[in-house]
Amino acid sequence: MCGVIGYVGGKQAAPLMLDALEKLEYRGYDSSGIAVCGASGIQLAKRKGRLSVLRACTHDGADLPGCTGIGHTRWATHGEPSDVNAHPHLSRSGKVALVHNGIIENYAELREFLAERGYTFISDTDTEIAVQLIDYFYRGDPVHAVRETVNMLVGAFSLSIIFADYPDRMIAVRKDSPLVIGVGENENFIASDIPALLTHTRDIIRLGEYEMAVIDAHNIVVFDRFGEKVKKEIQHVTWDAGAAEKGGYPHFMLKEIMEEPEAIRNTVHPRIHTGDIELEIQHIPEAAFKTLDRIFIVACGSAYHVGVVGKGYIEKFARVPVTVELASEFRYNDPIITTRTLTVIISQSGETIDTLLALREAKARGSHILSIVNVVGSSIANESEDVLYTWAGPEIAVATTKAYSTQLTMLYLLALKLGALRGNVSPSEMETYIKVLEDLPAKIDGLLGERELLQRLAAKYFSSKDIFFIGRNLDYALALEGSLKLKEISYIHSEAYAAGELKHGTISLIEPGTLAVALCTYAPLLDKMVSNIREVKARGATVIALCQAGAQDVAAVADHVIEVPAGDWLVMPSLSIVPLQLFAYYMALAKGCDIDKPRNLAKSVTVE
Ligand code: G6P
Repeated sequence: MCGVIGYVGGKQAAPLMLDALEKLEYRGYDSSGIAVCGASGIQLAKRKGRLSVLRACTHDGADLPGCTGIGHTRWATHGEPSDVNAHPHLSRSGKVALVHNGIIENYAELREFLAERGYTFISDTDTEIAVQLIDYFYRGDPVHAVRETVNMLVGAFSLSIIFADYPDRMIAVRKDSPLVIGVGENENFIASDIPALLTHTRDIIRLGEYEMAVIDAHNIVVFDRFGEKVKKEIQHVTWDAGAAEKGGYPHFMLKEIMEEPEAIRNTVHPRIHTGDIELEIQHIPEAAFKTLDRIFIVACGSAYHVGVVGKGYIEKFARVPVTVELASEFRYNDPIITTRTLTVIISQSGETIDTLLALREAKARGSHILSIVNVVGSSIANESEDVLYTWAGPEIAVATTKAYSTQLTMLYLLALKLGALRGNVSPSEMETYIKVLEDLPAKIDGLLGERELLQRLAAKYFSSKDIFFIGRNLDYALALEGSLKLKEISYIHSEAYAAGELKHGTISLIEPGTLAVALCTYAPLLDKMVSNIREVKARGATVIALCQAGAQDVAAVADHVIEVPAGDWLVMPSLSIVPLQLFAYYMALAKGCDIDKPRNLAKSVTVE
């Protein structure tokens, strides 16, 4: 969360940074700001609200001339969104400006330390403490001042800093929060995330924990925490610039839903070889998979919901007990882990701090760590024993869609592979199950062509106050995601319930006109779902049922029916999620919501 950009080179920094920040607005968008080092020292502009406000008040950056600068789009943690709390923050002397992503946990203590030394503060942020600390330590040597400061900070941070005395230089340092350096020709960049860099360069350097980079237009020198120079590798990112553009779609979310078939193909095909699955697992020994006593799946948000479906897959194919835990809970739950435990970490960004800290906890307790990650080289990928990348490409909309779908297919592949290794899936079963997966993208293509029904349903029900999603088994796991998608972007209150559990409490909330979305694709429990639909209908609910094509029993009881192509119930979640994502999208569209940037949310959550 929070988008960070830095530029040093021969171009005007301000307009370039405003364009780059636009690509990072998904990381936070309650306020934004830029600081530029020009002939007259550091100039600053920052505003509450969307980036367009900052653009307008700086005349698209023209008001801040200079070729070195830092910029920020904020997701507030300490202090409400306001002009004064927006980043960059300027030091008392006016000589240092800084942007920050993360949380400085000991800021109260440091504030006192600085107050005792005569510093006063104008914002409510933890960030202002960092810039004043640098100011306090600064005696003409920026590297020394930043190092002294970093040694006093507790928490997660990535800091990008400019000094008025060194107008052609930037300094970047990080711990636990993401930061990449873009390597250009006679120009260099800092960014919190790759999409901001793609129009300029695809060569990047990732800073490690506590590493500090001193960057000018021609050189990037990286030091470790002890001041020793570190030789860094330049990585080449294969994402093309167009992948982070809307490409004619009104919203990134719709574009990313439409990209799902391709993303799934890219994730599945390279791993299928003559009827078998080959995963790029190099460090966890094969023998370890055969003797597992337990698997934890740990993740946040939608990635957690993928885990709930994945538990069904792994327990069916591999017959190992699976516990799915929210990363923010797992870490503090004193998890029972042995050397025969596998922890599967799922994350699109690879930077979610709750997930990263959970990974470290599992690792410290001796678990094998296998992660499913979309962003190559991200922190979670780096700290895992092995990584299975989802090849979804950059995902910009805050509400995840294509990353969710690729994670789902990745877990299906993993479950099958584990099943085969443990002798529970025969070669011929393997072939059948692989075929089911290979047929998936074409079926999703078909579903994407049938969006009209979902538009009509959204037009009819967008003013609903509460919507219930019900289902059983895998359909229940999917209901969790369908409901989350809807509330994230349309702000309609929604709950996901295991259909059989409704009668134990929640059914009291059903009243005439309440909308229930009943997921009925899980063939083994279809009859039971039909009964559950009848129960809510008897209390006045209106029911939209999602079922396999030709499910007459369901059609007979529901008010509306959304069909997905009939087939093996195992892959039904991958099909059903598409209409659910589109339903949420059209509901939000009908309500006039800001679909790609829903209120209060951020895509990559790098604070605990
Ligand atoms: C945020 C996003 C969610 C996402 C979750 C986990 O809350 O808004 O869409 O599912 O973080 O993100 P990750 O990058 O770890 O998958």
